[in-house]
Amino acid sequence: FFSRWSVFLCERLTLLQCVAFCSPPGVLGFSELSFSVEPTDVTASLGERVVLDCQAQGESPVSLRWRRDGVQLQESGGVRVLSNGSLFISSSAPADQGFYQCLAHNRHGAVLSRTSQLTVSGEI
Ligand SMILES: *[C@@H]1O[C@H](CO)[C@@H](O)[C@H](O)[C@H]1NC(C)=O
Repeated sequence: FFSRWSVFLCERLTLLQCVAFCSPPGVLGFSELSFSVEPTDVTASLGERVVLDCQAQGESPVSLRWRRDGVQLQESGGVRVLSNGSLFISSSAPADQGFYQCLAHNRHGAVLSRTSQLTVSGEI
C-alpha cells in the first residue's frame, strides 16, 4: 500500500520533492525549506533586461517573494516575478540598483536567500 501511495504522490510532485518524500524520515524532511538556486550578483547595462534566479525546495506550496534593500518589492509593469520564481526586470534603470534577496516560505517557516547586488552601468 505504501509504495503504491508513494508512486501516486510522486507522479504529482517534482523529482526533488519526491526524493524528499520517499527518503527515510529524518534524512530529509518535508519541513525543510532550502534554496536550490540563489540569485547571483549582476551588472547590467542601462536598459538591459535582467533576470535574477531563485528556486526553493520544500513542502509545497512554497511561495517566493523578492526584497530590494530589505523592503518587499512591489511588482510593476517592468518588474515581475516569473512563474518559476525568477525576478524579471524588463529594462534596467538606476533605480533598480540595490541588494536583492528572495524570501521563500511555506507552512513550516521561511528562509531568506543570499544577497545579490544589481549594478546598472552606462550613460543616464
Ligand atoms: C525562469 O524563467 C526565465 C524566463 O523563461 C529564465 O530566464 C530563467 O533562467 C528561469 N529560471 C530558472 C531558475 O530556471
